[in-house]
Amino acid sequence: MKIVKIKNIAEFVGEEVKIQGWLHNLRASGKIWFPIFRDGTGLLQGVVFKGEAEDETFEMKNVLTQESSVIVSGEVRKHPKKEEYELGVKHIEIVQIAEEYPISKKEHGVDFLMNNRHLWLRSKRQMAIMKVRHEIIKAIRDFFDERDFVLMDSPMFTPNACEGTSTLFETEYFGRMAYLTQSGQLYAEAGAMVFGDVYTFGPTFRAEKSKTRRHLTEFWMVEPEMAYCDLDQDMDVAEDFIMFILGRVLANRREELAILERDVSKLEKIRKPFPRITYEEAVEILRKNGVDFQWGGDLGATDETIIGEHFDAPVMIHRWPRECKAFYMKRDPKDDRLALGVDVIAPDGFGEIIGGAQREDDLDLLLKRIKEEGLDEKDFDWYLDLRRYGSVPHAGFGMGLERVVAWICNLDHVRETIPFARTMGRLEP
Ligand code: 4AD
Ligand code: MG
Repeated sequence: MKIVKIKNIAEFVGEEVKIQGWLHNLRASGKIWFPIFRDGTGLLQGVVFKGEAEDETFEMKNVLTQESSVIVSGEVRKHPKKEEYELGVKHIEIVQIAEEYPISKKEHGVDFLMNNRHLWLRSKRQMAIMKVRHEIIKAIRDFFDERDFVLMDSPMFTPNACEGTSTLFETEYFGRMAYLTQSGQLYAEAGAMVFGDVYTFGPTFRAEKSKTRRHLTEFWMVEPEMAYCDLDQDMDVAEDFIMFILGRVLANRREELAILERDVSKLEKIRKPFPRITYEEAVEILRKNGVDFQWGGDLGATDETIIGEHFDAPVMIHRWPRECKAFYMKRDPKDDRLALGVDVIAPDGFGEIIGGAQREDDLDLLLKRIKEEGLDEKDFDWYLDLRRYGSVPHAGFGMGLERVVAWICNLDHVRETIPFARTMGRLEP
């Protein structure tokens, strides 16, 4: 007998097949019972009739518990009118009878669910989120691969900081100190001088003491870096990139978005070009909304929400005060106070999903910025080499995968966007 996946069940109407999976749920009434099976590719209702099923199998209704592992065989049937399928069960092979399952239909607190994350992932909603996450990862890779970007992975252990020293995780490294990377960017810049267009995609780490719905201590970042690229071109790529990801998810993950009750019309309405405003204009929007905002500061979460609510599409805020951005950003040749950075803010309060910049390509100005930031010049010697040997204008950005998953799935908190979240208060499971 053929072992089939539930997602392909429609191809086997009238045939006897085998499903390998778990018991998701069970409803019984007298001479008939309805188990729902789950195999990771979908859910399938079984029908167990006295007479049609083997006697021993029919009696299993009092033995099978939620999440017991089973191999089921029976005939695939189609609903006479609807696109629905069921399995006329003949035989169930019990692989293991599950102990009483801790997650039931009743409401559980988030802390309880997060403590049982390894089991919570089996629920319909969590499966839907993981599938959207997978789709986005695939879209990210395809976008860059189709445009001839070369994937250049960056190291996780680093000797120095990329995004400021305040959020570094330290670790002992054979008698010296190493840090977990905050961003692969500096290495991506070396790659851009090799291939022109490159990207890194991997976990990044921030020892941020923020307990917000947007912060993880370990998150995945994709970072393209492009030689002979300025800030405007960088924003063009970011815009195309977001449109590409949205297109893929809307084309392939409708079912999952429906499970998540995502209002897809909001995503469908998003079009290029995205609004592009300067930091100056962002400050004006804030002041008009009654925020007493001081020029020079970074935007806080509520500031981002106010600005995001102003637009239906992601908004790009560019040209920031130098002091609130990282040392590597190129100063604006038209205004010495500004850096050529860009933040992309998602709509509906999801906040910053992309941070990027044109990089300082002048050796002396870069050295000056490193000193201003109190960083040790020695640590950046290799990076400064990139300005000594064939320096060119270049730019790139980093997109936080989990923030994008949260936005597209419309989730309250990034902890549900990654299989096993790491936050300030959580290292388990
Ligand atoms: O704005 P950030 O700090 O930019 C960089 O790291 C640059 N070096 C990227 C580059 O130009 N190559 O971080 C980029 C993005 C943010 O916009 C956000 O989406 C995400 O990474 N991010 C986080 N996501 C989850 N939890 C956190 N603690 C995050 N910190 C940043
Ligand atoms: Mg940022």
